[in-house]
Amino acid sequence: KDIPVGGSKRVLLAAPRGYCAGVDRAVIAVEKALVKYGSPVYVRKQIVHNIHVVTELEAKGAIFVDEVDDVPQGAHIVFSAHGVSPAVVNAASDRGLQAIDATCPLVTKVHKEAVRFARNDYEILLIGHDGHEEVEGTAGEAPEHVTLVGSPDEADTVEVRDPDKVVWLSQTTLSVDETMQTVNRLRARFPNLEDPPSDDICYATQNRQVAIKKVASDAELVIVVGSANSSNSVRLVEVALENGATAAHRIDYAYELKQEWFDGVRTVGVTSGASVPEVLVQEVLEALAEAGYADVEQITTAEEGLIFSLPKELRTDLKGTR
Ligand code: F3S
Repeated sequence: KDIPVGGSKRVLLAAPRGYCAGVDRAVIAVEKALVKYGSPVYVRKQIVHNIHVVTELEAKGAIFVDEVDDVPQGAHIVFSAHGVSPAVVNAASDRGLQAIDATCPLVTKVHKEAVRFARNDYEILLIGHDGHEEVEGTAGEAPEHVTLVGSPDEADTVEVRDPDKVVWLSQTTLSVDETMQTVNRLRARFPNLEDPPSDDICYATQNRQVAIKKVASDAELVIVVGSANSSNSVRLVEVALENGATAAHRIDYAYELKQEWFDGVRTVGVTSGASVPEVLVQEVLEALAEAGYADVEQITTAEEGLIFSLPKELRTDLKGTR
């Protein structure tokens, strides 16, 4: 644990980091549903992509399922923050389930864009990761009109019906820079490609990337707290590596930190994905302090104050009970 020559060890802590408004709302929705209806409350897929959050909610009585068919008829089911396709909404209603839709309003906004462009007979090039729940939900709004573009390279090969009637939309949690590369390569082939009416990559994803860019330019090592299936967390590792960090690692918990990562490292950058509770970051900071990185400076690139109201089904049921 020698202190490297040239100064003392320090941590640069990115802000904003951690919970976004959509995650906060979705987690509170499950907690309130458990109090209001009693356990179990069923949740389709992980409510947010964080193993710690899911484990804690399970301990409180939530049951996570893959599909609505796994839920007993008539039970309460919460749809996750990533959104669901109309087919899932219909399947839940056919089964007589009481659905609470915790889809992030910023994902719902993209769903509405997809519906509107499809109605006007556009072909939608949806930039996003194949198999991600959000992409399945958005594409499911207009399956006949949506073609997935998974990377800048795929932009060079994707085929469209009518190059004069195409629009691009995207997953909310992508790398801003990589998405722009994809769009530029699409536009090189389809000059009349239309842009979404407003940013699909959400404010939280953008803000966390801006903050980690600033931190990474001064840090040899970046630690991102977040789960492996969390798209925005995985993007933070990539963005850190592309913006000056020599190494970057994603971990769920402080105990996953490895001593060899710190050889010769003076400055460690720390951030967390949009689904990560702050307590997990604080545990990482404690572990870093024990390793000599006790001096913590927060680097703030934006202030966030957005709050979303709870899903309407829950608001109605909670009326008069608070
Ligand atoms: Fe919503 Fe963005 Fe969070 S889409 S759930 S605010 S990461």
